[in-house]
Amino acid sequence: MPFAPFDWIDDEARRRADAGLVRTLRPRPAEPELLDLASNDYLGLTRHPEVTAAAAGAARRWGAGATGSRLVTGSTALHAELERELADFCGFEAALVLSSGYAANLAALTALTGRGSLIVSDAGNHASIVDGCRLSRAETAVVPHADPDAVRKVLHAHGGRALAVTDSVFSVDGDAAPLPELADACRTEGAALLVDDAHGLGVLGEGGRGALAAAGLAGGEGIVTTLTLSKSLGSQGGAVLGPARVIEHLVNTARTFIFDTGLAPAAAGAALGSLRLIRREPERADRARAVATALYEQLTEAGLTAVRPDAAVVSVRAPSADAAVRWAADCRAEGIAVGCFRPPSVPDGVSRLRLTARADLTQEQIATAVAVVRRTAPVS
Ligand SMILES: Cc1ncc(COP(=O)(O)O)c(C=O)c1O
Repeated sequence: MPFAPFDWIDDEARRRADAGLVRTLRPRPAEPELLDLASNDYLGLTRHPEVTAAAAGAARRWGAGATGSRLVTGSTALHAELERELADFCGFEAALVLSSGYAANLAALTALTGRGSLIVSDAGNHASIVDGCRLSRAETAVVPHADPDAVRKVLHAHGGRALAVTDSVFSVDGDAAPLPELADACRTEGAALLVDDAHGLGVLGEGGRGALAAAGLAGGEGIVTTLTLSKSLGSQGGAVLGPARVIEHLVNTARTFIFDTGLAPAAAGAALGSLRLIRREPERADRARAVATALYEQLTEAGLTAVRPDAAVVSVRAPSADAAVRWAADCRAEGIAVGCFRPPSVPDGVSRLRLTARADLTQEQIATAVAVVRRTAPVS
């Protein structure tokens, strides 16, 4: 038999092509050529001169890299400052920053659960939560989307150590989780609640303090949140926020913190720069939500099927994966960048265009984007 250990890859590639699910990397120029409704730069901060200057200043002072795990090469004053300000802004006792939001979810889930404990996870949760559940070795019960009664029932039947986990705003449809009801179920059943606020930070709550602040749950005894620094804060990296003893436990046990190089100084500097800017300009959060509502209203008035946004993500249904890919390409050809979500990134198998509202979009840009999405829509 010939030695061909990777032939199976060609078979898989053919199957992907037949199903219209091939993914390709497109080059991105330094200067944006398209109107951007595809990125997660909700507050329009990633190119803000203050934020890029903070990144450059941090790199000059602390170096281009963190040089190792913070437990090995030391933890900078910059990391400590970012953690203090993040915790304070979002209303939690303590914070720990990691190299990505993905690593933050893996850290929280693996360190706070384990063999013999139970994780109750929403069916619409982000892939990093799914992977955290898998790595944790805990028993995982996947419950129907946004169903606090189902969470309560599963927790009640288990009775032992448990944690429920949910996105605050779901990345595919932009709908919000029922946080007060979930917190209540966890409280009465004695379970912890972990909320991934990747899409809530900067957009929800007063001045963008996040979904937990908006729900009056920030800093609660059994509540932990994970964040990404790569969306509203326009930087890169992630964080876990919660009670000080939880954060100390993570420093001692979370493998994606212990065995990973610390967050790069430039990323920490940029996140800190954005955080200070948001504190000074709290109206950015309201503006991002208003842009999302305007996009939704104009898209539905134009006859498209969209989901009413709870934060800054607007999701528009497409008839098939192929049609979604062609639709997004047609929008790009007309100068508008939109996201395209299709299997396996969508839990229900329904492909969508995903438009993100940016606080700095003008009324004219919103109208142009809607007109292009409408004009290029597949005829069903
Ligand atoms: C809900 C959610 N959680 C976590 C992540 C991962 O964050 P990061 O990109 O910082 O790894 C993302 C997106 O990227 C996300 O949408």
